[in-house]
Amino acid sequence: MEPKKIFLLPGDGIGIEIMNEARKFIAFMNDELKFDFVCEEGLVGGTACNVYGKPISDGDIYRALAADAVLLGSVGGPEWDDLSYDLRPEAGLLRLRKDLQLFANLRPVICYPALSNASSLKSELVEGLDILIVRELTGGIYFGEPKEIIDLGQGNKRAIDTQVYETCEVMRIAKVAFELARTRRGLVTSMEKHNVMKTGLLWKEVVTETHATHYRDVMLSHMLTDAGGMQLVRKPKQFDVIVTDNLFGDLLSDVAGMLTGSLGMLPSASLGSADEVTERQHAIYEPVHGSAPDILGKGIANPIAMIASLAMCFRYSFALNTEANCLEKAISAVLDDGLRTADIYSQGMRKVSTSEMGDAILEKFKKMLS
Ligand code: IPM
Ligand code: MG
Repeated sequence: MEPKKIFLLPGDGIGIEIMNEARKFIAFMNDELKFDFVCEEGLVGGTACNVYGKPISDGDIYRALAADAVLLGSVGGPEWDDLSYDLRPEAGLLRLRKDLQLFANLRPVICYPALSNASSLKSELVEGLDILIVRELTGGIYFGEPKEIIDLGQGNKRAIDTQVYETCEVMRIAKVAFELARTRRGLVTSMEKHNVMKTGLLWKEVVTETHATHYRDVMLSHMLTDAGGMQLVRKPKQFDVIVTDNLFGDLLSDVAGMLTGSLGMLPSASLGSADEVTERQHAIYEPVHGSAPDILGKGIANPIAMIASLAMCFRYSFALNTEANCLEKAISAVLDDGLRTADIYSQGMRKVSTSEMGDAILEKFKKMLS
């Protein structure tokens, strides 16, 4: 069996703390189950800036390209707030996404039964919630040119970001959404703003056509993103797969995160297309939440989004479906037992630290697999 190469990028802030929990699972699988995961480690974000003077080094980009999968913690923090725009920690993450051509960002929004009370919405609205947000990740306003601030003189400046999409970019993300819907409840909701944006107009047209040509068995509906955001908090269970652009996907996934009780619960997978020659598909797995500098170093960060991202890595990069399912069940079982990190704590539950949560999930995982 070929070794499975995982490149670890803990990043900044709590990224480092939660990555330590993910490592425990990889070590267990290597030591006890004789898997052959080979982990290298690099720097991204502010920590990379401290060492290399830029938010990711060319060497680490190369190592990410050479790996079977990248596991990333989080980037950013107040320490690096004053860096120039090109050097900010987030630029490292964006370069990784672009260089690895990870156009499809999958963000599952699952409300674990034990957490339906932790949501800011009434529990009956979120109980059993299982949505998949498919966010376009390498186009749109994040990367469109021109992107600049022009000094017009006399204290006046003009800032420009450019929202741009081409047919092929919309079509490939739509296909991902339709394919995934076929493995779920078969319903895709596409969100854009064709009432004000040309990119929205093209988006809707291409999604409609892709559906009509290849995916008539899937149900497709369209929503304007503002209305979609409202529906997401009004009646979230109406959704199965939501497909949307880079910026809208960023916003909607944070909103959807709160439906699950905490943003600390949301994993993500960013996938590219398979290389035609090597058949290798680049991928990054990372929590949706950020580096949470406010709780840094306290040992209270929720490691579940990171551990659930590892489960996605097992599923999508290594076709280890049993291990992925067991890991997700282990998370659910620990929540059923009443263990809670501070972000999802409620009265009567047992408050645990980051590493206690990681260990408890690992114990369940071990029992399921041995
Ligand atoms: C996310 C984050 C990133 C984004 C930031 C850190 C650049 O918010 O993954 O949702 O905006 O895409
Ligand atoms: Mg975001």
